Amino acid sequence: MQLSQDTDRPFLGFGLGLRTDHYHSILETSPNLDWLEIISENYMVPGGKPLYFLDRIRANYPMVMHGVSLSIGSSTELDLSYLRDLRALADRVEPAWISDHLCWTGVHGQNMHDLLPLPYNEETAMHVAERVDIVQDYLGRRILLENVSSYASYIDSTMSEWEFISLICEKADCLLLLDVNNIYVSSFNHAFDPRQFIDGVPAGRVQQIHLAGHHNHGDYIIDTHDAPVVGPVWDLYGYAMSRLGPISTMIERDDHIPELDELVHELDVARDIAAPYLMQKQTA
Ligand SMILES: [Fe+2]
Repeated sequence: MQLSQDTDRPFLGFGLGLRTDHYHSILETSPNLDWLEIISENYMVPGGKPLYFLDRIRANYPMVMHGVSLSIGSSTELDLSYLRDLRALADRVEPAWISDHLCWTGVHGQNMHDLLPLPYNEETAMHVAERVDIVQDYLGRRILLENVSSYASYIDSTMSEWEFISLICEKADCLLLLDVNNIYVSSFNHAFDPRQFIDGVPAGRVQQIHLAGHHNHGDYIIDTHDAPVVGPVWDLYGYAMSRLGPISTMIERDDHIPELDELVHELDVARDIAAPYLMQKQTA
């Protein structure tokens, strides 16, 4: 693990999301990746192929865990069996950190398998912060929350998304996974300046960045993760790095998954953009 010069905040370098399509090529070619992110739920299983490959790949690469089912914003009680399995996986993987999304994914035990946005107001922020507190206590570590893409807003919102995120961070003392593509998608769909978002979040709490591709339909964007990162998102990534300093960065591809080489080369673009800022002091 690399550490920045001025803080003990870990800087892992440049990574990819681990996908089943790449299990063999990662083991056989040892690609130039500093770390890998796993989708936690894919490995919260009793055994079999996923854990077999997980252990073998983990032996060669640092990992972080990224969940999609915590549903931190839901009004349904936290699922303790889920947390128990998450903690058991963390014991196995020993990840550098654990993240999930600032969203809700269902109510009354129904998982809609979608990352739904929350109303941005104080009441919701307090609700989320209380639940983050419980999760962090249970896991014995701070977690990272990721901003999601959104296509709708609530009349109950009383603040911007970045003010909402900042409030939760302050109340729960948690960390942030900044998805630069999601910021761009939401800024397009809701007509705000994406740089204002980056300027508005507490820089010292950002520990990871996601990059991904999307589909622009002209008057709205759908966050599809099935294509290369586009120019305006690279530009925004450069802006984020210039403001935040060295932050562990990875590319997420969830559909139309290409050969591993293609993603490793795409990651080189991130390395090039970030290079001028890697020795920069991280913003507190
Ligand atoms: Fe993401």
